[in-house]
Amino acid sequence: MKLMNYVNGQWQDKPDAKYTAVLNPANGEELAQVPLSTAKEVDDAVLAAKAAQKKWAKVPAPKRADYLYEIGRLMKQKKEELAQVLTKEMGKVIEEARGEVQEGIDMAYYMAGEGRRLFGETTPSELADKFAMSVRAPIGVVGLITPWNFPVAIATWKSFPAIVAGNAFIWKPATETPMMAYEMAKIFEEAGLPPGVANVVFGSGSEVGTAMIEHPDVKVISFTGSTETGRKVAEAGGRNLKKVSLEMGGKNAVIVMEDANLELAVEGILWSAFGTAGQRCTACSRVIVHKDVKEALQNLLLEKTSVLTIGDGLDESVKVGPVINKGALEKIHSYIGIGQEEGATLLTGGKILEEAPHDKGHYYAPTIFTDVAPDMRIAQEEIFGPVISIIEVGSFEEAIEVNNSVIYGLSSSIYTADVNRVFKAQRDLDTGIVYINAGTTGAEIHLPFGGTKGTGNGHRDSGVAALDVFTEWKSVYVDFSGKLQRAQIDNDI
Ligand code: UN1
Repeated sequence: MKLMNYVNGQWQDKPDAKYTAVLNPANGEELAQVPLSTAKEVDDAVLAAKAAQKKWAKVPAPKRADYLYEIGRLMKQKKEELAQVLTKEMGKVIEEARGEVQEGIDMAYYMAGEGRRLFGETTPSELADKFAMSVRAPIGVVGLITPWNFPVAIATWKSFPAIVAGNAFIWKPATETPMMAYEMAKIFEEAGLPPGVANVVFGSGSEVGTAMIEHPDVKVISFTGSTETGRKVAEAGGRNLKKVSLEMGGKNAVIVMEDANLELAVEGILWSAFGTAGQRCTACSRVIVHKDVKEALQNLLLEKTSVLTIGDGLDESVKVGPVINKGALEKIHSYIGIGQEEGATLLTGGKILEEAPHDKGHYYAPTIFTDVAPDMRIAQEEIFGPVISIIEVGSFEEAIEVNNSVIYGLSSSIYTADVNRVFKAQRDLDTGIVYINAGTTGAEIHLPFGGTKGTGNGHRDSGVAALDVFTEWKSVYVDFSGKLQRAQIDNDI
């Protein structure tokens, strides 16, 4: 199957385009061919989006929202089909794929509701017979750059608020996972979105992404991906005075205090560390444990890790799927040597699974390091695979300090039964998301999603906060006094 760009409501069949193969990470099978578009295709898409957006901005927001209700309904109707495509191209186990599609459905309905809110403020004027309010205005054409690890959910976090707020978008999905974007483009078409409001252009970050960032008519770039690429996006966006919303890396920790329910903590750690084979920005990759329960926690973790089934995510009994590609496998594996050289103890895993039934895909054994010092590279750098580092601490204060000692600040978690610690932790953990007695994953779409420090640049996906990325504030003053009233001067009481 050859995928096609979706631009101005048309499927672009370009026989002379270059293509690259989309491979199933579970078995190496070719799933599709994805075009590697050029700056020319981006130009065409922006032109179409610009014209469409002018009209779209005038459509009342509740009517714009009706399209999102329809998109949500179609996603719900096709939920299983979408989840199957997602597992095939990305690798996550089918239950998680269904969850991810559900996250997109939730976002459609939630943002559709915003069509009847999009709240601004009304506020008194300092002058008599004068009215003051602020309203959200659409920005124009926006560019969305999305990663392969959540090929549909993250795209909905960005595209749905963009739509409801009256923008048109160009979406560049990751080349590893274009099929979800293709499916979504079909849904946009079926939902009857006016041509040019939603455009999908496939291709590389260096060509298509760069063209979007450099294009003068693309006013906002919303990017999720690595910190390294995000920095380049921000630099180029800054030069072009664009609003750039970045969602980048994480090095998330679960803290386990001596009063924690250990069974519960172990379940939370395994789910957030090995779910999606550790390839979440929110994945738990550090376990910060109080010395009194370290041994017990380690034993439980080992016992439960040894029974995890690893394989093709389409098999309902499999708990851990493959990682995305060979490059990822090699990067993850390189950290085993790094950790050992630094003096960490490898408790389990640390190997690429190469024998049948794992020989055709990219499988990595769930891995646990212990005796890890907070400043070791394995405790500082994002590995993006199923690898946990256990770090021992002697107190609550030390646990918080260790948690905060990384350049990232996405998600954190603490297991404790002490209510005072709970409140101190939610205040002092320097991350955009904090969990109490739950793992580091599982963000819900109606709350802001994002992080501090090297994880982001102050913007948020999801929740009402996402609207801030895709709208400008406009302050409106209506003077109905019939005379000149000078603010700050004629306001003496
Ligand atoms: C990501 O890891 O990039 O909270 C997104 C979670 C999911 C979203 C993760 N709802 O883990």
